[in-house]
Amino acid sequence: MPSSEPSKKVRSIIERDRKALLKTTRLPYPFVVSHGDGDFAYDIDGKRYIDFTSFIAVYNFGVGSPASVRKAISRQAEKIMHAAFYDFHAEEPVEYAEKLLTMFPKGFGRVFFSNSGTEANEAALKLSKLFTKRQYTLAFYSSFHGRTLGSLSLTASRTRQREHFGPFNSVVHVPYAYCYRCPFGKEYPSCGMACVDYIKKQVLTEELSPKEVGAIFIEPIQGEGGYVVPPKEFVKGIREIATDNGMLLVSDEVQAGYMRTGKFLALDNFGVEADIYTMAKAAGGGLPIGITVVRHSLGDIPEGAHSNTFGANLASIAGANATLDYVKKNMPTLREYSSGKGKLIMKRLNEMKERYEIVGDVRGIGMMIGVEIVTDKSSKDPGVRQHEEILKLCFEKGLLLMPAGTSTLRIIPPLTISKQSLEKGLDILEDAVKTVNSRTPRAGA
Ligand SMILES: Cc1ncc(COP(=O)(O)O)c(C=O)c1O
Repeated sequence: MPSSEPSKKVRSIIERDRKALLKTTRLPYPFVVSHGDGDFAYDIDGKRYIDFTSFIAVYNFGVGSPASVRKAISRQAEKIMHAAFYDFHAEEPVEYAEKLLTMFPKGFGRVFFSNSGTEANEAALKLSKLFTKRQYTLAFYSSFHGRTLGSLSLTASRTRQREHFGPFNSVVHVPYAYCYRCPFGKEYPSCGMACVDYIKKQVLTEELSPKEVGAIFIEPIQGEGGYVVPPKEFVKGIREIATDNGMLLVSDEVQAGYMRTGKFLALDNFGVEADIYTMAKAAGGGLPIGITVVRHSLGDIPEGAHSNTFGANLASIAGANATLDYVKKNMPTLREYSSGKGKLIMKRLNEMKERYEIVGDVRGIGMMIGVEIVTDKSSKDPGVRQHEEILKLCFEKGLLLMPAGTSTLRIIPPLTISKQSLEKGLDILEDAVKTVNSRTPRAGA
């Protein structure tokens, strides 16, 4: 059973990390990973943790990835890894792209490979400009599309991520349908989709000519921004705005895609299609890959307009190909996992919402679920301290959990997690919520 005190070895590695690596993003607990195995991750002292993070939505099919994926990567690594296949040619990325396209709606024709989510979105941003010859882009508040400068221009979830990095690409941000904290102070469904109206009647009437907007970037479910699930009408309304004005809709599936919601494409949950899709994270089975897929009717791009050295590489492509094979082979089971286990998680979390004042909102699709922690239900003040305490307590009891947004817990276990590990993880979570609830004055302990 993990203890609350980090070992000497753990403390020493964290200390060396602070000196050798630039500070990036860190969790409020000291986890130094050794290896993973299905439901579990192990630290360097051999302590075992139930994983509710999928290591930021990467290990959707088990921590460490299925054996078939690991073997395919090893085989390719033995043969050759880097092939410069955007200058030479190689069959593997072609075969993988052909297979991948069968997962997209009819009429999706070309794929660009890169090395990460942010690069997949960089490509989508550049391509949308190239295809439309329009210079502006719309994106949403609380969105996260990456941290390289083009993608960062689209991102608007924390000022700290943007501070000192401007000027940015010409992106105008508009409100997302964050119904728990409606930016217009309204309630769904009586709001009549005021957020969609605002884009049409204010932004695209008073500020920005729709003729100059090339694309709208949307996360079907906002990830880093707080696991925000919009109503279907919202996404449909955004699709309509794009269609009516000759703009491209770009669906950023980097976190929500790849079966996380029970569907390969998270946008499918809303009954609309995008014109460009981006993916990364889970696609590579643990190796880095970025994927940008464009509608065939958009055509091709001039040679040299966009490219890169690695395009992932052949080892990543092998990982991605084997991951896709795994998904195709297990599609009905994965769908069932996402919906069945998703329902189980929602039921337990909704019970917690009934019991504990600090559980403000529970929302999600499939196994992409957020729990927004507040100081109390009536003020809805973000429970920043509370959610951090919950993360720490869970860690001490053997559960890995990550935050999102200001005070949301993200519940994204591997889809393959056993019912036993899932129930045990939820028990640990409930114990932590109960403890923190009792320490929160306004929650009326
Ligand atoms: C929706 C979304 N888009 C883009 C990114 C950026 O991906 P990466 O960290 O691989 O650059 C992320 C990362 O969390 C994400 O969640």
